[in-house]
Amino acid sequence: MRSLIDITDLTVEETEELLNTASDIIENPEKYSEACKGKKLATLFFEPSARSRLSFEAAMIELGGSVIGVSSAENCSASKGESVADTAKVLSCYADIIAMRHPKEGAPLVAALNASIPVINAGDGGHKHPTQTLADLLTIKREKGRLNNLTVGFCGDLKYGRTVHSLIAALSRYTGIKLVLISPTELKIPTYVKKDFIERCNMEYVETTDLEGSLGSLDVLYMTRIQQERFSDRAEYERLKDVYILTEEKMKKAKSDMIVMHPLPRVNEISVGVDNDSRACYFKQVYNGKIMRMALILKLLKEAEDKAPYKAEGNKYEGYRCVNPRCITSVEQELEHRFAPSKNGGEVLRCIYCDKKAVKKD
Ligand code: NCD
Repeated sequence: MRSLIDITDLTVEETEELLNTASDIIENPEKYSEACKGKKLATLFFEPSARSRLSFEAAMIELGGSVIGVSSAENCSASKGESVADTAKVLSCYADIIAMRHPKEGAPLVAALNASIPVINAGDGGHKHPTQTLADLLTIKREKGRLNNLTVGFCGDLKYGRTVHSLIAALSRYTGIKLVLISPTELKIPTYVKKDFIERCNMEYVETTDLEGSLGSLDVLYMTRIQQERFSDRAEYERLKDVYILTEEKMKKAKSDMIVMHPLPRVNEISVGVDNDSRACYFKQVYNGKIMRMALILKLLKEAEDKAPYKAEGNKYEGYRCVNPRCITSVEQELEHRFAPSKNGGEVLRCIYCDKKAVKKD
């Protein structure tokens, strides 16, 4: 069963194929208006979201399909203690494909392992967000004409910003990408992203706290909001929230063809005045997101004929536990803790749900 849990579930060729389908959808929308007639998308959003959920819904409707869904955990049996695995099995009887957002890292993977229909990870905690990455790749491709030989700056909350993690994973498969990772030291990129993608793929990168000093070298600037809901310490959020604000003044230091991206919602990290700058691409990203979701739904439904379950590497390792409080294993006691050796060939065992290091318990 084909699901999209991690952006690397798609090969580079398949990603290319989706980008091509997207271009065709843009040029010939009428060709696709009945492509998913009779098919149902279930949107299961256990975290507040309007735009991503509506993007999936709009995508399915434009393909001629229909949509059912829940938009908060309170409105469904999760509030009665139903497991993600059970929810996925139930939904498999009602719909043809599921888009799931969940505050716990790894929840969509649990759903994919238990559903008999494809599952799309629409964001799991501060972990991954592969469909935003598809929107981002289409935006870069359309605006810059290429996905290689680019200097890409990521700025803001690189620790909890799931869109950043997935986009770096995707870019690690292209050549000539240089990364400029701009964040406060408290919000640096997670170790697994650095080790498994940036270092393993020998990507050139620098880590800095300086936005203004970095601007002149960038082809793409990817701004992110500080992820308030992921902070356990409110005071720390208050201290960091306004640390980077992109203004019209600062944009004077950027190349004339640099593009500014942002997954939205914006809080105040890009001043509204920048919206009038022709280099601002964040609203184009929203449109591209809907188109890429259309291309993805089409592909996954085509491949859904293949009923083999979604495969995830990993085993139970005696004595090892995941202790990440943000992982789905922290709330679902029945769920078996499973680990796999880290991708970079190291000795470290990582939780298959959240990518955090396994801890040996005596
Ligand atoms: C992003 C997300 O949900 O991670 N937004 C989105 O997909 N529209 C970014 C964010 O919430 O900051």
